[in-house]
Amino acid sequence: MKIGIMGTGYVGLVHGAVLSSYGFQVTCMDVDVDKIKHLQDGNSPIYEPGLEELLRHSLRDGLLTFTTSPQQVIQESDVIFIAVGTPAKEDGGADLSYVRDVIQQIATYINGYKVIVCKSTMPVGTSRRIATYLDTLLTDRRSDFRADVVSNPEFLRQGKAVTDALSPSRVIIGTESSQAKETLQTIYQVHIQHHVPFLYTNLETAEMIKYASNSFLAVKISFINELALVSEKVGANIQDIATGMGLDERISPHFLQAGPGYGGSCFPKDTQAMLDIGEKNDEDLYIIRAAIAANEKQMKSMINKISEALSVNGTLQGKTIAIWGLSFKPETDDIRYAPSFEIIKGLLQQGAMVNVFCPQGMEQAKRMWSDFNNRIHYCQSEAASAQDADAIVLMTEWHQFRAHNWPMIAKTMRGNAFFDLRNMFTTDVQVREQFQYYSVGSS
Ligand code: UDX
Repeated sequence: MKIGIMGTGYVGLVHGAVLSSYGFQVTCMDVDVDKIKHLQDGNSPIYEPGLEELLRHSLRDGLLTFTTSPQQVIQESDVIFIAVGTPAKEDGGADLSYVRDVIQQIATYINGYKVIVCKSTMPVGTSRRIATYLDTLLTDRRSDFRADVVSNPEFLRQGKAVTDALSPSRVIIGTESSQAKETLQTIYQVHIQHHVPFLYTNLETAEMIKYASNSFLAVKISFINELALVSEKVGANIQDIATGMGLDERISPHFLQAGPGYGGSCFPKDTQAMLDIGEKNDEDLYIIRAAIAANEKQMKSMINKISEALSVNGTLQGKTIAIWGLSFKPETDDIRYAPSFEIIKGLLQQGAMVNVFCPQGMEQAKRMWSDFNNRIHYCQSEAASAQDADAIVLMTEWHQFRAHNWPMIAKTMRGNAFFDLRNMFTTDVQVREQFQYYSVGSS
C-alpha cells in the first residue's frame, strides 16, 4: 500500500515520517519548492525533537519521497492524507481554501480507488462536504473512479510530536466505508498490536472529538489560571491546589499547571473555531467562550503583575526587562499565538525596553514580529539578556533555564525582580534568596 501526504506542516511531516518508519512507501507533497528541496536533503523546516533523524533514516532507506507534484502523489498513492493548513479567518472560522485545492487536484488526477483521510483539523461537517464535493466533481467529469473519505484527527503535541505519533493515546477513525476502515486498520496495524484504543465513529463525531479534546484542555488551563489569580490574593498555593485536585483520578493532575495563559497553533485556533461552529448552529458555547476570555485576561494579569512591581509614576519608562523564552512551550521553535508576544507588547506599550532570549524561537520571532524588530533586543543567551536589566520574566519553561549561577546573574542586573510565570522555581531556595521573586498563584 502506498501513502501520499498533502501538506508538509507539523502534522503532515511528522505523520509521513512516522508512517515511512513502519515500512510504508510514503510520498509527501507541498507547494513550497524551497521547503521540498530542504526536505529532500533531509533537513526539517521545523525544530521537533527526533524528526530530522527519522526523516534522514527513511530517505536513506528509500521509503520517503518529497515532491511538489500533486499529480505524482495522487496517482502513486492508494491512501491520501490531507494535512494542509486550515488557518483561522478573521471571523474565527477556518479557511478551507487549501483543502478545496487538494480535492480539485484529486478529482483531476484520480486513477483508481482512493481513500482520502482528513488529518488537518477541520470544522465539523467538512469531511462529509469533501466527500460530496469530490463525488460531484467525479460525476461531472464522468470519472470511473471513486474515493472514500475518513476523518482521522491527529492529537500530537509539539515538542513531543514524534513520540506522540509513534505511540498515540488513541486512534479515532470516522468513516462509513468498511473498505476505508480496513485500509486504516492496515496502516495502523502497529498500534493495534500495541493495544492502543481504537474508536470507530461517523465523520462528524471524529471531527468533534478533536475540537472537544482541545477545547476541554483549554478550559482546564483557564480554570486553574483563574484560580491562581484568587489564590495569590487569599494566600493559597495553586501548585498544591492542583496536586490536591489531581489526586482525584476523575480530575487528573494533567493540564493544571498555572501559567501566563495557553498559546500555540491549536488551542487558540480550535477554541475559536468551536465557538464559530456553535454560532453557526445557534448555540452559544458559554464555557468555551469563558475559557478564551479567561486566557486573554490571564495574559493581561501577567502584564499588570510586572507593571505593578516595577513601574514608577505609572510608567515602565527607563526599565529594562529580560524575557526568557519566546516559544509557546519548550522544545519547539513555534511562536504562533505565544503569550510571550502579548506580554512583550504590553510591556513595550508601557515604555519598557525589552531584551529577549529563546533557545529556538528567535529566528521565527524576528520574522513574524518584524514590525517590532527595532524595539525588541535579541540576545545571545539568557544571561546576556539579564545584563543591566531590572527584571527577568520567565515565559517558557525551557530546561536550560533551570541551572544557573544565580548570584552571578543577579550581580550583572540593575534590579532584582524575577517573574517566574511558569512556576519553575517556587521551591528553589537560591532563586528566592537572590531575587525579589514572583510566581503565578502563590505568594
Ligand atoms: C495541543 C494538544 O495537547 C494536542 O493534543 C493537539 O493535537 C494540539 O494541541 P500543543 O499545542 O502542542 O498540543 O501543546 P500543549 O502541550 O497541549 O500546550 C498548549 C499550551 O497550553 C501551551 O502554551 C502550554 O504552555 C499551555 N499549558 C499546558 C499550560 O499553560 N498549562 C498546562 O497545564 C498545560
